[in-house]
Amino acid sequence: MERGQILFLNEQEIQSLITKEQALDLVEEGFRAFARGNVVNPVKLHLPIYPDCDGYLNSMPSYNRETKATGVKLVTVYHDNPKEHGLLATLGTIVLHDWQTGMPYAILGGTHITNLRTGAAAGLKAKYLAREDATVLAVIGAGAQGFSAMEMVMTAMGPERIQELRVSDLVPQRREQFIQKAKELYPHLRYISCAENQEAMAGAHIALFCASAPVPILENCQVEAGSTVICVNELVTPQAVAKFDKFYTDFTECVLERFNAMGREGARKTGIPYEELTANQVTAQFGDVVLGNVVGRRNESERILTLDVGMSLEDVALAEFVYRKAAEQGVGKVLDFQNL
Ligand SMILES: NC(=O)c1ccc[n+]([C@@H]2O[C@H](COP(=O)([O-])OP(=O)(O)OC[C@H]3O[C@@H](n4cnc5c(N)ncnc54)[C@H](O)[C@@H]3O)[C@@H](O)[C@H]2O)c1
Repeated sequence: MERGQILFLNEQEIQSLITKEQALDLVEEGFRAFARGNVVNPVKLHLPIYPDCDGYLNSMPSYNRETKATGVKLVTVYHDNPKEHGLLATLGTIVLHDWQTGMPYAILGGTHITNLRTGAAAGLKAKYLAREDATVLAVIGAGAQGFSAMEMVMTAMGPERIQELRVSDLVPQRREQFIQKAKELYPHLRYISCAENQEAMAGAHIALFCASAPVPILENCQVEAGSTVICVNELVTPQAVAKFDKFYTDFTECVLERFNAMGREGARKTGIPYEELTANQVTAQFGDVVLGNVVGRRNESERILTLDVGMSLEDVALAEFVYRKAAEQGVGKVLDFQNL
């Protein structure tokens, strides 16, 4: 590529350039770099489009001093997209910049990368925090993030470890589609479609909370001893945290800012009061568990909760990897861009 050109990569091209295993490794290394204090990853900037639409646009920049990966992800989440427009709820775009000059050199679809890295972050929670004999996995919210998180838990733990998959969603069709698609990948599992979230939770060793509910779900569920509850999206309240022995976040400052704002918005919509989370309820950031600074699980009966807000450093790490693969293989379109 010449100076001022960019590589343009679409979603289908991206899917062929990165595996689940590679995404898990990149996100794991990202957590380590973050815990070592080597990533500049500001709290994401949130642009609400509601009440005009049930959607928002987040701007998420980061710079990793270890790898030099520099970029920004823009991501929209429009909850009515699947139902009203036949589109995915979560859509992303990633721009990579040269760390020394600021020159942009790649524009990539960020939708597959968002699903992969969000799932990978959940898969790593299962790998580091689930009890040794975990065999029953529950997914609450059978959407795009739920599917990716399920696949990544299977990949991170080894597909033979999980024996039963419970799937819960308010929309029966989404549960059935999820199970159909999962059966193609994991025919050995026993599948249970659950109309109630508690039905999926009862006896589950690992639960993935990936629903787009505007109100807290977890605080009304019973949590069994030894379980690991991994929240990709959940309005975790102090009452929910109180059910657990440990509570890990990916990035506490951003978790508090984002989820408390979502809780306030949910309360405005539903009239149901939301009690805010505070930093002193958090045990540690997950990167410190990955780095070995904190012992994640001490015994088989601890109840462990995690909540991820999602970090730009994960998106940018995957995008930079995909860019290098594409450049090696001649995939994508090279366009003149900064050609003044
Ligand atoms: N933590 C992160 O890094 C991260 C990344 C991307 C998206 N998200 C969040 O994840 C959420 C899900 O995103 P998605 O792309 O999978 O959306 P999606 O619309 O594909 O899936 C959400 C599913 O949750 C179901 N649901 C809603 N309320 C429920 C309830 N009370 N009980 C059970 N199921 C319920 C919906 O019917 C839907 O099937 C979004 O709200 C988004 O903000 C988080």
